[in-house]
Amino acid sequence: MELSQSAAWRSLQAHKLEVEAVQMREMFVEDKSRFERFSIQSDGLLFDYSKNRITPRTMELLLELAREAELEKKRDAMFAGEAINLTERRSVLHTALRRPAGYTLQIDGLDLSTEIADVLAQMKDCCERVISGAWTGYTGKRMTDVVNIGIGGSDLGPYMVTEALRPFAHGQLQVHFVSNIDGTHISETLKKLNPETTLFIVASKTFTTQETLTNAMTAREWFLNHAQEASHIASHFVAVSTNRAKVVEFGIDEANMFRFWDWVGGRYSLWSSIGLSIALFLGFDHFQALLNGAYAMDQHFCNEPLERNIPVLMALLGIWYNNFFACSSHAVIPYDQYLQRFPAYLQQLDMESNGKRVTCQGEVVTHATGPVIWGEPGTNSQHAFFQLMHQGTEVIPADFIVPLKTQNPAGEHHDILLANCFAQTEALMKGKNEQEVRQELTAAGCPEAELNMLLLHKVFPGNRPTNTILLDELTPLTLGSLIALYEHKVFVQGIIWQINSFDQWGVELGKQLAKVILPEIQGAESVATHDSSTNALINAYRNFRAKSTSVKQVQLSFFD
Ligand code: F6P
Repeated sequence: MELSQSAAWRSLQAHKLEVEAVQMREMFVEDKSRFERFSIQSDGLLFDYSKNRITPRTMELLLELAREAELEKKRDAMFAGEAINLTERRSVLHTALRRPAGYTLQIDGLDLSTEIADVLAQMKDCCERVISGAWTGYTGKRMTDVVNIGIGGSDLGPYMVTEALRPFAHGQLQVHFVSNIDGTHISETLKKLNPETTLFIVASKTFTTQETLTNAMTAREWFLNHAQEASHIASHFVAVSTNRAKVVEFGIDEANMFRFWDWVGGRYSLWSSIGLSIALFLGFDHFQALLNGAYAMDQHFCNEPLERNIPVLMALLGIWYNNFFACSSHAVIPYDQYLQRFPAYLQQLDMESNGKRVTCQGEVVTHATGPVIWGEPGTNSQHAFFQLMHQGTEVIPADFIVPLKTQNPAGEHHDILLANCFAQTEALMKGKNEQEVRQELTAAGCPEAELNMLLLHKVFPGNRPTNTILLDELTPLTLGSLIALYEHKVFVQGIIWQINSFDQWGVELGKQLAKVILPEIQGAESVATHDSSTNALINAYRNFRAKSTSVKQVQLSFFD
């Protein structure tokens, strides 16, 4: 049945007409226990969703939507390893990566628990050897720098986590991330490095990704320019991949390959050996704590009733705004500088998962899916786009994420940070009406004409929804939980929207066309096989390239 025809959906449509007329500030006045009613405390994390345009009835109807979708059955199917990624005929088992060892689950004839434990042991051994200095480079020196070369899920998760947990780093190693095909990224990174003490991790699930392989070839060339001997590659390049044949073809020793499995989606892979850069930077114990934190959230997701289940509630609130209030974007504002990469990481997790327009039954959806996810840390964002959030014509639901304890106590900084965070959600919820503006201006002695001119400019409509996630402290454990929370939120939304959150066909077309255009750019003939815009752009670059190549050739022959 079309989702928009379901009983719960239709009830929500009718219910929305009642709720939209009510201001949240009135709801808080009427219900003194609104915070207690709409907040949940769980393992180092407080989820406050009371500043949403909801009543107890809204939540009942949203939960009904989840039940109609048979959410619990589908959640259990994912955890049990059923091939819920229909279009790729795969299981979705990133959750198995963080389960304590010793369970029984077989996939493709493999005992998962043993497989995963083996790779974790290999990662642990590598970490111990590199961090202790037992792993030496081609001149006998210990490693000082690790460069993760990967893109998308093979970059965003590890990059975000290493930034977020920087205070937990042991300090023996620096970590760098190279993802972009733009030669600037690898060049600027290599400038800072000593080939004798640098370990490269080539991280690619498929080991066919153009950006990663090109960057890895450039790194290898740079390394060999210094080390000369190809045999030295073994102590400076390791690979993380599911594709053994391609790793060997690239020239990386099989012994230096850390495997994972096709039932781990790229954007869900930081828990696998793709997390090697995390484990090296923080030490294996902290990586294990990250896994433990995610496992705690898995337990919460599997065992809490839907009405006390944080990822379920977050997902339902997202659906409430996206589908019933037509909010097409959702902001994520961490009030923690260490979480500055968190919105970028979430963009792939959420938008690559739920940016879909066809249902699992193969029909074009008649409801909105996946909003645009974006954000920046507070308080910087307050001085950039909060104007639009407060007074613009778009309503943008937002998550505010903030730790109670700072890693860097410095004077009043943390008190001011939290005061700003709480003030913003209060301001977005309450707003300031005409009467309040009038009173304020009158009290300030503003002349009547000036007051009338300013009045509407100074009104804040309010009623703008936010969730606040209060972490005790940003640690490997709480970060693991936070990431898993968002993973499960995305899963729940995908189930309700009836889409497959685990494929990503939408990234393929551009890749295919780039493969056609690259030889055309490098070819001798003027290009006329595309539309006039694409032809003209390609030819503009070909012409520029031809001129700059000849300049280079002139210079070279001059030096010859
Ligand atoms: O962007 C598409 C994508 O396939 C992502 O899903 C994936 O995380 C990324 O490319 C990198 O892929 P790989 O790890 O295979 O290099």
